Amino acid sequence: MVEVKIPEELLNRWKEIFQDELEEFLEAISTPIRESIRVNTLKIDVSEFMRIFEERGIGLQPVPWCKWGFWVEASEESLGNMWEHFAGLFYIQEASSMMPPQIMSPDSTMKVLDMAAAPGSKTTQLAQLMNNRGIIVANDVSVKRLKALTNNLERMGVANVLVTQMDGRRFGRLAPNTFDMVLLDAPCSAEGTIRKSYKAILNWRSWIYEKLAETQKMLLVSAYKAAKPKGVIIYSTCTFAPEENEWVVSYLLERYHVTTEPVELEGVHFSNPVMEWKGKSFHPMVKNCVRIYPHKNDVGGFFIAKLRKLE
Ligand SMILES: C[S@@+](CC[C@H](N)C(=O)[O-])C[C@H]1O[C@@H](n2cnc3c(N)ncnc32)[C@H](O)[C@@H]1O
Repeated sequence: MVEVKIPEELLNRWKEIFQDELEEFLEAISTPIRESIRVNTLKIDVSEFMRIFEERGIGLQPVPWCKWGFWVEASEESLGNMWEHFAGLFYIQEASSMMPPQIMSPDSTMKVLDMAAAPGSKTTQLAQLMNNRGIIVANDVSVKRLKALTNNLERMGVANVLVTQMDGRRFGRLAPNTFDMVLLDAPCSAEGTIRKSYKAILNWRSWIYEKLAETQKMLLVSAYKAAKPKGVIIYSTCTFAPEENEWVVSYLLERYHVTTEPVELEGVHFSNPVMEWKGKSFHPMVKNCVRIYPHKNDVGGFFIAKLRKLE
């Protein structure tokens, strides 16, 4: 257990969110996250990859919701320094971050927008799901992070991605009704990644939620506008904050011609969304959103909404 005092205001928020699961949750986030990877089948078969790791004495435990995902057991070498990593045979990716692309499972004829894509863990997974066919537009506002994305695309042998650098809020106007699927893996307060660095809790500031939520709402409206009629929009974050999750989805549902659909993915324990927060009751269709908790799946935290644009 790591000894870091959680700010009282944050603890009170978590009490409200997790209720009688609070102790279980606090214990889960105080233990380091398990390292996980995604085998890149654009370059190697899973069985061949497993043979290489087996020869090196590195154990792999399957991630139930992604047939290319594995938790890595007892690797003495840093995964990022292995030649297999440089060669793009695998991507180091947190197991819960593999969920949004799996839920989307685009086919190889589709036009997909990844609106906040860098450094590209989900873009490269989408390319893998599409067998390097169709088109993915991978956008991010940050030039520095886009450099990491382009490096990753090259390393992984991805050939169906067009990279753009702009504020995602502009897409709706520039490319309305264009994409079969849009992924908005939004910039967020990242509470769910706390197991990577428990001390990050020391930097917690309460004002951040409202500020991020304003941007997230505008990005989600833009994602909605960029989707084709009947198109799917996946909104995901790695935070537990309802302001950045259910509230943002409710904002869209209340104003636009859009609905939610149940999120389906085998092998995950989904927790229920928060339907009311700080005196605000959310739109009833928020009920289809899912929360992924560290104490239920031994992963980082996530929030996912599957939205469908109506005609
Ligand atoms: C959670 S990270 C994305 C992680 C990425 N999807 C992945 O799986 O590797 C959020 C990203 O949003 C980008 N971002 C922040 N504000 C943005 C905006 N207004 N438009 C587009 N991207 C933005 C950040 O630079 C950051 O790379």
